[in-house]
Order: sequence, then C-alpha cells, then structure tokens
Amino acid sequence: MQMTRVLITGVAGFIGSNLADRLIQEGSYEVVGVDNLSYGVREQIPEGVEFHELDIRSNSPEGASIYPIFQNVDYVFHFAAKNSIIDCQRDPIETADINVRGTVNVFEAAKRSTVKKIIYAESSAMYEGSKVLPTPETEVKPESFYAVSKVSTLYFAEAYKRFYNLNSTALRYFCVYGPKQDYRRTVPPVFSAFIIKLLKKQQAVIYGTGLKRRDFIHVDDINDFHIQCMFDEKTTGKVFNLGSGINYSVNEIYDIISKLLGSDLKPIYKSDLPGEAFANLADITLAKSLGWKPKVDIQTGLKTSIDFIRKELNKGNIR
Ligand SMILES: NC(=O)c1ccc[n+]([C@@H]2O[C@H](COP(=O)([O-])OP(=O)(O)OC[C@H]3O[C@@H](n4cnc5c(N)ncnc54)[C@H](O)[C@@H]3O)[C@@H](O)[C@H]2O)c1
Repeated sequence: MQMTRVLITGVAGFIGSNLADRLIQEGSYEVVGVDNLSYGVREQIPEGVEFHELDIRSNSPEGASIYPIFQNVDYVFHFAAKNSIIDCQRDPIETADINVRGTVNVFEAAKRSTVKKIIYAESSAMYEGSKVLPTPETEVKPESFYAVSKVSTLYFAEAYKRFYNLNSTALRYFCVYGPKQDYRRTVPPVFSAFIIKLLKKQQAVIYGTGLKRRDFIHVDDINDFHIQCMFDEKTTGKVFNLGSGINYSVNEIYDIISKLLGSDLKPIYKSDLPGEAFANLADITLAKSLGWKPKVDIQTGLKTSIDFIRKELNKGNIR
C-alpha cells in the first residue's frame, strides 16, 4: 500500500497528538512529528510516530534544523505555537518569534521539499474585535498579541503561494476540547479546570459572571476536516472556521459537567480575566458546504474529556 507521509508540528500538544493518534490508527500514513516539548508532553505522542525534538525556528546549516525532516513529506499540519493568550500578552517578542518566525520557517522548509500542502492553525481569536455572531471568516479584527501573530501568518501563507506556488489551508478553530487537552496552564481551559476540581471534590472557579458564551468543538470533529483538507482540492487556498455553530455559557458548561459527575458543589466566582471576548460563535457555512459537519454532541464529547482526566488523576499526573 502507498503510504502518505505526514509531518505534524506541535505533535506532543493537544491537537497534534490527537491527529497523530487518528492517522496512526487509520494505517495508511507515516507520521513524522516535531515538538520542542515546551508545552507538549512526550508521552502523548503515539507509538509509531517518527519524533524529532526540535524547535520550529531551527534552521542552522550546520546544527539543528527542521529542513531535512521535511524531505519526502506529502502534507504538513502546522500546530506548534505559543498559544495561551495570557502568556502571549506577557511576552509579545517571543509570541512573534514562535508564531510568526517559526511559522515562516515551517513554510520555508516545505518550500524546499516535496510538500504538496500545509494545513495550519489560525484561531477564532482573530475575531476578537468583531461583534458579528455567528462570525464568518471575513470578520478578521485581531486585538491581542496572540491574535495579531496568527493574522500575520495568513499573509505569509498567501505570499508563499504567490511567489513559490506552495499550497495551504488555514483553519480557525474555536474552542477545541477532548482527550489530552492541556490542563497544565496557569489558567487551564474551562473544561479541564472544572473537571479536575469536581473529580477532586473541590469547588471550581468561574472568572466573571459565567455568562460568557463559547463555541466548543470536539477534537474528533476537527480531525475529520484535517483529513479532508489533505485530499479535497476545494479546501486549497481557503480559510475555514471550525466550530460547532452552537455556543454555551460557562455556567451552562459547569452545570452539564456537574450533572455528568453527580456533583452538587457550587462554583466560586472570581473577578474576570482580561482580554477575553464576551461571546464567540462560528459561522461554519463554508466548511459545511464541502460536506463536513460536527458529529460529537457536547454530552458525548465531555465524557471523553472526563475519562481522560480521570485516568490522568489516577496515574498521579494531576496534583
Ligand atoms: N486548542 C484550541 O482550542 C485552539 C483554538 C484556536 C487555535 N488553536 C491553535 O491550534 C494549534 C494547536 O493548539 P493546541 O491546543 O494543540 O496547543 P498545545 O499547546 O497543546 O500544542 C502546541 C504544541 O506546540 C509545541 N511548541 C510550542 N512552541 C514550539 C516551538 N517553538 N517549536 C516546536 N514546538 C513548539 C508545544 O510544546 C506544544 O506541544 C495552535 O497553533 C493554536 O494556536 C487551538
């Protein structure tokens, strides 16, 4: 069988490791992974991945470089990034260095090799300044340093197409959740934060009133579209929102998780976190027009997050 060779940057992170799992399970892919393990976890990389512990910025002719491992690769999924908004606000220079210079280095490596297409991560944060809900792909209004860094990669991708005919597809994820979601951050994503506390029979914290609404999409659903992006030419040169098209308030999420865990603990409300939009909601018309649609409902999806976190707690990985 002809194997498709796929390279994933950020393979030890949440989305990268889930995609690696899926590709390895499907059996028709050779998977090469890159990660500097700054946020990612080596144990999350599935067996069968050819792993290179490298920084996406490395391009030394004599020393460390990502360029050689791009040889004979068919498709690149570029996920490595500095992606916590709080961390990016604290360090705009490193944000630009990883998210912009690092991304350009990935495009440069692809340009010098056999890569047919780069499928790369942008973010719904690019819509921070927009009031339009549901938000279509045209509403780009970045505010935070993280969002600005993501917007600039879009222009580099267009320039690589213009000058080197390098194909790409940009994916604007809304709030992705599922197993292996990072729970180690200063402020973990809301699902992980609630599940960890309630499994430990402790009160969880809600920042603000809990009325903020978020569009959550399960990682299995975005993996369906990842695979489509490799082979569906209609995705090339395009930008797609990936959300569920439904949003829930933080309070509603808390209630759903509490019920699933049989907990009657009340949350503690603390002052709001700066720089967060009041609501997000994806307009997913474009991705749906190509036949994709989200399949995992929130109850089913949350069970996969709970199972993962319960196992991590039992292993002693979460204190
Ligand atoms: N998870 C979401 O809800 C979400 C939403 C919007 C956009 N995104 C974007 O999707 C992508 C993947 O997100 P994720 O949730 O899997 O994040 P993650 O933090 O779990 O994974 C990112 C990985 O990149 C690695 N990395 C960081 N800097 C690196 C560098 N300089 N060199 C090599 N590796 C490096 C980290 O070690 C980590 O394993 C990111 O680009 C992110 O901005 C994610």
